[in-house]
Amino acid sequence: MTHLRIGVLASHGGSNLQAIIDACSSGALDGEVCLVISNNQDSRALGRAEQHDVPAFYRSGKTHPDPQELDRQICDLLEQHDVNLVALAGYMKKVGPVTLERFGGRILNIHPALLPKYGGEGMYGLRVHQAVLEARETTTGVTIHIVDEEYDRGPVVAQCEVPVLPGDSPERLAQRVLDREHAFYVETLARVASGEINLSRL
Ligand code: GRF
Repeated sequence: MTHLRIGVLASHGGSNLQAIIDACSSGALDGEVCLVISNNQDSRALGRAEQHDVPAFYRSGKTHPDPQELDRQICDLLEQHDVNLVALAGYMKKVGPVTLERFGGRILNIHPALLPKYGGEGMYGLRVHQAVLEARETTTGVTIHIVDEEYDRGPVVAQCEVPVLPGDSPERLAQRVLDREHAFYVETLARVASGEINLSRL
């Protein structure tokens, strides 16, 4: 059993962040969110963190124009908060080499499709679900994977399926997948905390 000390990186709504915070409070997950970092000053994720007294930091190419310095800053913040797992939750930037080196193998991302399909640069938001519908898939899903230097590419930790239903619009499908993401991220983190998933073996 490992008590997870989670650092969350998020860019927008932060509904996955909220699910993780709630699971830590309810005891569904043996862990705590130690800090939230966002590259978007107006991100709802930062507001959600503040509401729950979780330290929240805005760090971006605007606050730190030098990418190496930005990477070092993010890594330092994660270290200062004694994080043992980093969870990307709708984070729209690549993780820099310093952070990858320090936390590599313990940085997870959630993606709203069954990778390796419908992932990679430019595959985010409604575009993912549009592509799934255009390909006439009958099943899509959620992937949680270890983060490496490329978008959506590292080893898969866990996947679950979500049905595509007749008449789905990208928005409707996105909502069904997002609803599933919340529980699935929490379940998967709980399996990491319990030792059932051993990240170093992936
Ligand atoms: C989710 O669909 C996640 O899979 C993707 O970005 C979205 C984030 O949503 N990476 P939220 O910010 O957690 O509400």
